[in-house]
Amino acid sequence: MTNADLEKIVDTSDEWIVTRTGIRQRRIAQDDMSSADMAVEAARRALEMSGRTHEEIDLIITGTVTPDYRLPSNACIVQERMGFPNAVAFDVVAACAGFINGLSIAQSYIASGVHKRALVIGTEKLSSITNYEDRNTCVLFGDAAGAAVIEPSENGHGLLSTYMKSDGSMRDWLWMPTGGSRTPYSADFAFDGTDKIQMAGSDVFKVAVKKMADAVQNVLRDAGLTVDDVSLVVPHQANIRIIEALAKRLRVGMDKVYQNIEKYGNTSAASVPLALDEANREGLLKPGDNIVLVAFGGGLIWGAAVLKW
Ligand SMILES: CC(C)(COP(=O)(O)OP(=O)(O)OC[C@H]1O[C@@H](n2cnc3c(N)ncnc32)[C@H](O)[C@@H]1OP(=O)(O)O)[C@@H](O)C(=O)NCCC(=O)NCCS
Repeated sequence: MTNADLEKIVDTSDEWIVTRTGIRQRRIAQDDMSSADMAVEAARRALEMSGRTHEEIDLIITGTVTPDYRLPSNACIVQERMGFPNAVAFDVVAACAGFINGLSIAQSYIASGVHKRALVIGTEKLSSITNYEDRNTCVLFGDAAGAAVIEPSENGHGLLSTYMKSDGSMRDWLWMPTGGSRTPYSADFAFDGTDKIQMAGSDVFKVAVKKMADAVQNVLRDAGLTVDDVSLVVPHQANIRIIEALAKRLRVGMDKVYQNIEKYGNTSAASVPLALDEANREGLLKPGDNIVLVAFGGGLIWGAAVLKW
């Protein structure tokens, strides 16, 4: 879906969207493709890249706010569809920080010896919760999935540290007010847009920059590194201006910050694995490089991970 397509739906312009967000197009899944369908495809490719078997995966974590069903989890659907006989599977609801949250849970379980090998997935069909009559939000979001296989490292490479934090006091800055147990749908429900994403955009913008910078500083401190040791920052792709402001706050040049927002928009939990995969395929990640992942989303919740490639 291009900006020109959106111009036909709401009162907006390519010029406004590009200058205010950096987004030129976003992918929208077909009606018959769900977030679990995309998760299965991403998981299949990640497993193939890892060279591991289905039997070797004993933990599946899916970050998503757009599961196929409220019950069961998308992770259980992936388990059933792909056949992981030895795994426990569950979802985390951490919005755009869902993939990094999944990484941090997997890291803790693996480090403690509870699990040996995890499949971490971020998948979102945000088009299913986007109000295409609201120009404040509908230009921002897209659909995508990404996945990674996590296992113990024997050479000091891999995840060095992770950091997560949240603050529920700003929960109504980015939320879906209805449809949950507090306000379940009824026969006379108005469907007035409250069942879709609502956002206080400029408030979220300011907190996102500050908290993502905090998360990067904390995760680097925990890993015994400074920003000068970092080869590439792979941030959540929400808005090019957020990414630029983050770079400025961290005092890193934009040449050290990966961005692909113009092609996909904000894909929530899928954004970081999608960007990391593209950076890898573009040959930007060299063995021994320190890579920082960082994300921020509805909750509000934010987090970062540092890994040695
Ligand atoms: C949403 C966002 C792009 C808006 O940019 P902004 O510079 O903050 O713009 P504002 O909200 O101040 O709105 C400015 C004006 O543009 C208008 N506008 C909003 N969306 C528009 C659109 N798609 N096309 C044209 N005009 C638009 C607004 O109505 C407002 O008009 P007004 O001044 O007449 O009321 C920006 O705030 C943002 O990216 N926020 C964070 C979003 C995000 O990342 N959320 C997820 C976090 S994971």
